[in-house]
Amino acid sequence: MQNVIQVTEDLFYLGGNDRRLALFESAFPVPRGVSYNSYLLTDEKTVLFDTVDSAVGELFFENLDHALGGRDLDYLIVHHMEPDHSATFLRVVEKYPSVTVVTNQKVAMMLKNYFPFSGKNVRLIKEGDVLNVGKRNICFVFAPMVHWPEVMMSYLKEDGILFSADAFGTFGAIGGSIFADELPFERDFLDDARRYYFNIVGKYGVQVQSVLKKAAALPISMICPLHGPVWRRSEDIAWYLGKYDVWSRYLPEEKGVAIFYASVYGHTQNAAEILGAALAKEGVPAKLYDVSVTHVSILLSEAFRYSHAVFASTTYNNGIFVNMENFLSDLKAHSFQGRKYSLLENGSWSPQAGSLMEKTVSEWKNMEKLGETVTVVSSVKGETREKIEALAAAIAADYKSEKEDKS
Ligand code: FEO
Repeated sequence: MQNVIQVTEDLFYLGGNDRRLALFESAFPVPRGVSYNSYLLTDEKTVLFDTVDSAVGELFFENLDHALGGRDLDYLIVHHMEPDHSATFLRVVEKYPSVTVVTNQKVAMMLKNYFPFSGKNVRLIKEGDVLNVGKRNICFVFAPMVHWPEVMMSYLKEDGILFSADAFGTFGAIGGSIFADELPFERDFLDDARRYYFNIVGKYGVQVQSVLKKAAALPISMICPLHGPVWRRSEDIAWYLGKYDVWSRYLPEEKGVAIFYASVYGHTQNAAEILGAALAKEGVPAKLYDVSVTHVSILLSEAFRYSHAVFASTTYNNGIFVNMENFLSDLKAHSFQGRKYSLLENGSWSPQAGSLMEKTVSEWKNMEKLGETVTVVSSVKGETREKIEALAAAIAADYKSEKEDKS
């Protein structure tokens, strides 16, 4: 049965939720599910903004039928070709054979690569072009690499509505309400929104900044993303744009220390816990993460969230413990940068993890090391504890000086 939700007088939400998906993009756990959003505008022309993942395809077609109310579909705007939004594209153009597909050159090429699609009835647009659909005009804003190279957004000029593709989306199914102002977004969605941002588009901060500059020139009264809730209250939109600004400039969102440890028999964990307790004694908040337990997508998001990071790893196969190595590799792939960091290693006969981690992390942009690398030989003893406390003091001194600078 259809579940069309009215967004404005002539705009309808046609999307759906998948709460059974284990891994989004076969990579990211989504225990709270994910939504695939699509919107229909019913002006003098009918305009569909993107399609959906096949997981919610049946509901989507029921919604589309219902929202059209017997009218034909005039335009299908394709913003992004990733199959979580385009999997049902071919079924739409087959069902509505007179529909005009409105998109850019790169999308048009990908459509032919993904589907046995003739390319018939495609209207190619360029950045800044305007499509009149009756009482309203739709402008196009290109957003390459947010998240693929073909991505664009569209802007419904008379209503101030931005259809933002993946940008401003989040993991987490929506339901009950599709509007951010009717959900406890900060409580229930912010962690997922941050994780979505850093894992999906975090690598492309420069491109996100470029889109934010374009968006700043537009009066935006509503943001309709392809995942997660719709934004329609000006103060909420400003708050979320502010988050994107901080995230895309690679700035810490919060002051705090994230301690990431890799431990086989618990001794490196013990060292990390002692460091956390020593920091707490100095009045510095720290959070600990076992990199073998917490999913790397969460580790990545939390590393970007905080101002300070500690990497603590046991030595394994003469190298960095595999889960820590994987985490560091993911941080590098997402252009992690601009943080204070400290190191702790463990090794029972030949500690190597510290120097190898230093070689990796020191090559990233604007990274500043605090304190000396602490070496634990098998387990923490009196002298090692002193070194851990000295490291905590070095981190705390920096943390407090930054705090005073900003106060
Ligand atoms: Fe939601 Fe890049 O696709």
